[in-house]
Amino acid sequence: MTVDAPARTSPHRHLVDIDTWSRTEIEDLLSLAVEMRASRAARAHRSLLEAETVGLAFYEPSTRTRVSFELAAKALGATVVDLAVERSSAGKGESLVDTLRTLERTGVTTVVLRHSASGAPHLAVRETGLRVINAGDGMHAHPTQALLDALTLREAIGPLDGKLVAIVGDVAHSRVARSNLHALATLGVRLRVGGPSAWVAGFERWAGLEVATTLAAALDGADAVMALRVQTERAAADGIGSLDDHVRDWRLDETRMQRAAPDAPILHPGPTNEGIEITAALANGPRSLIGRQVENGVPVRMAVLARLAGLA
Ligand code: CP
Repeated sequence: MTVDAPARTSPHRHLVDIDTWSRTEIEDLLSLAVEMRASRAARAHRSLLEAETVGLAFYEPSTRTRVSFELAAKALGATVVDLAVERSSAGKGESLVDTLRTLERTGVTTVVLRHSASGAPHLAVRETGLRVINAGDGMHAHPTQALLDALTLREAIGPLDGKLVAIVGDVAHSRVARSNLHALATLGVRLRVGGPSAWVAGFERWAGLEVATTLAAALDGADAVMALRVQTERAAADGIGSLDDHVRDWRLDETRMQRAAPDAPILHPGPTNEGIEITAALANGPRSLIGRQVENGVPVRMAVLARLAGLA
């Protein structure tokens, strides 16, 4: 399918959780993202979303997600408004729902919402008429990150079916990990999480998921490794001991990566805590896909915006 074909009917008006998307839906979305990458370079779809107004409502800091959604929406001709939460009436105590209803009244059609509260996007779906895209809610989900990670992985290591991906570090607090576990499992990936016991506790209940509590076991034979940011804003007093212990036992470097498959790439959603969960040499070295992940953010989010609007 090309984006010039008649618009397809998507069963999804929102993107809150990736676990409600089928394998075909995810694979179609990734194919559309590849087309969108080319169309962005050719400036081919500058009017596709001209009737849409996209509101960016980021109640937590963001660089990659916020900027790439803004560029994606503009590349497709949408009007974009950034709520700029710190300068909004949220500072006067206005609730999330009232804020979103206000955006809707002003003409916003789609909201891209990041919030510290897990479930905030579900609330937005329930309480407003907006099309809702989850840009990260608490520890729950970050579906567009999982989509761009899947595209980046597929382009680096080929078809994902049967490949082994290890997700390593602060799994407990990571919405990126949860969305990747859902998306990659749907795409047929064999999955392993690894981290200090306190940060992988409970994940043994996920069907088919391997759990490792040493770095060597986590990396062993992996076709790709995804490092996670130690979320100091959420992880305080969470039973892992000191950051020094974490660096000693879990920091990824070139030498430790030799436990993984030869040339296995390293991913990280960013921002990295260089020197904590990953060394600068590994993050910036030849195995690193971190830059590709950022680059893929724009076309993946173009595809999401267009598909949810039913225009591609
Ligand atoms: N990966 C990610 O969500 O990065 P930002 O917080 O910079 O958006």
